[in-house]
Amino acid sequence: MKSAAKFADMDNSVYRQRRRKILEEMGEGVMIIATAPEVPRNRDTHYPYRHDSYFYWLTGFNEPEAVVVMIAGKQPRHILFCREKNEEREIWDGFRYGPKAAREAFGFDEAFSHDALDHELPGLLENQPMLAYTIGRDLAWDTQMMGWLNTVRSRARSGVHAPSRMVDARIWLDEMRLIKDDHELALMRRAADISTAAHVSAMRATRPGLHEYEIEAELLADFRRGGAEAPAYNSIVASGANACVLHYVFNNKPLRDGDLLLIDAAAEYGSYAADITRTFPVNGQFSAAQKDAYELVLAAQTAAIEAIRPGSRWNDPHDTAVRVLTQGMVDLKLIKGEVDGLIESEAYKRFYMHRTGHWLGMDVHDAGEYKLNGEWRALEPGMTFTVEPGLYIRPAEDVPEAFWNIGIRIEDDVLVTETGCEVLTHPPRTVADIEDCMRD
Ligand code: GLY
Ligand code: MN
Ligand code: MN
Repeated sequence: MKSAAKFADMDNSVYRQRRRKILEEMGEGVMIIATAPEVPRNRDTHYPYRHDSYFYWLTGFNEPEAVVVMIAGKQPRHILFCREKNEEREIWDGFRYGPKAAREAFGFDEAFSHDALDHELPGLLENQPMLAYTIGRDLAWDTQMMGWLNTVRSRARSGVHAPSRMVDARIWLDEMRLIKDDHELALMRRAADISTAAHVSAMRATRPGLHEYEIEAELLADFRRGGAEAPAYNSIVASGANACVLHYVFNNKPLRDGDLLLIDAAAEYGSYAADITRTFPVNGQFSAAQKDAYELVLAAQTAAIEAIRPGSRWNDPHDTAVRVLTQGMVDLKLIKGEVDGLIESEAYKRFYMHRTGHWLGMDVHDAGEYKLNGEWRALEPGMTFTVEPGLYIRPAEDVPEAFWNIGIRIEDDVLVTETGCEVLTHPPRTVADIEDCMRD
């Protein structure tokens, strides 16, 4: 049997440090965060468990049925509730820490059995001025929380009171998750590198006659070979007209000579996501129209990335990409008119209908506000996000036929640095580099 001493060398200081910082920001009160429920089993089939990102960010603890309670004040307390050890279940499902070992290994002041929540939680809420949790995220959890609050209220005659203020814990958690620390960046770089390698393999493997799913298989094999636990999201491997379906999921069509292939796929490593899209010709050679459209999206992405530096606004890369794309749509005769007017009327949305990026981290669409007090927020060092302009051209009489069914997106992940930004993802990106890679 494993003993607590076995885990003494685990470095979980980064999680304790995060909790300490959150408690300092809170100043007073108690924060309670539960992890995610287990995915229901399908008869005797078992799925890998994925924790709740907030909970894992605070604890580094990866078992289901766990709750962290953090109490602010002069003597902050960090308490974990987790599953008891259970030798019978461990034979079937694997190791469980149990409260005693988890307390030691994960740096908690106290740890209790998950079964003790109803007994212990009301006491932890007693006389606290404020309760912070992720309000409304999970209705069952809301109900449980109200039950514990009411238990405290029912004890009022013994002189205790329940928290009079309830605050959404995300106001602290999201802001901190938005700025990645070194521990997080190391994991994100690894996710980015594994995903980059997978895109290179996919480019090299692609040729007419294969199917979209065969290229997906290359990606998935490389994710696992690189040590990633899972794809960060469902891979999109979309050839020809399928690339104009933004959330294409089937990945079952044959790859045709002359078509483009759009791949939006990346790995999750150490619970952090990458998010990469590349678009390239199935036969390894861009046609003239494909090259024109591709180089337009590439120019939009390059300009958007150049707009990223501390102090610029969240929306600057998007506005920059929209301007470049709109001018290009006019030049390619996809739309007619004057660029400012076409942006104003959002005419460009016919061919570019999504936004240019999103925060990236433990979640693919990561935590964090995009506006503060009604204004697009300023970029700060440590923020990580995607830059993913695209162009999606469905057949229509008023559109030059050479562009019909061309769907292109180029997506990379960036980190805001002190002076500008660093691109974390590096599959071949220019026409020449892609054609070289596919020729090798
Ligand atoms: N792969 C999800 C996204 O690009 O937002
Ligand atoms: Mn994305
Ligand atoms: Mn993507």
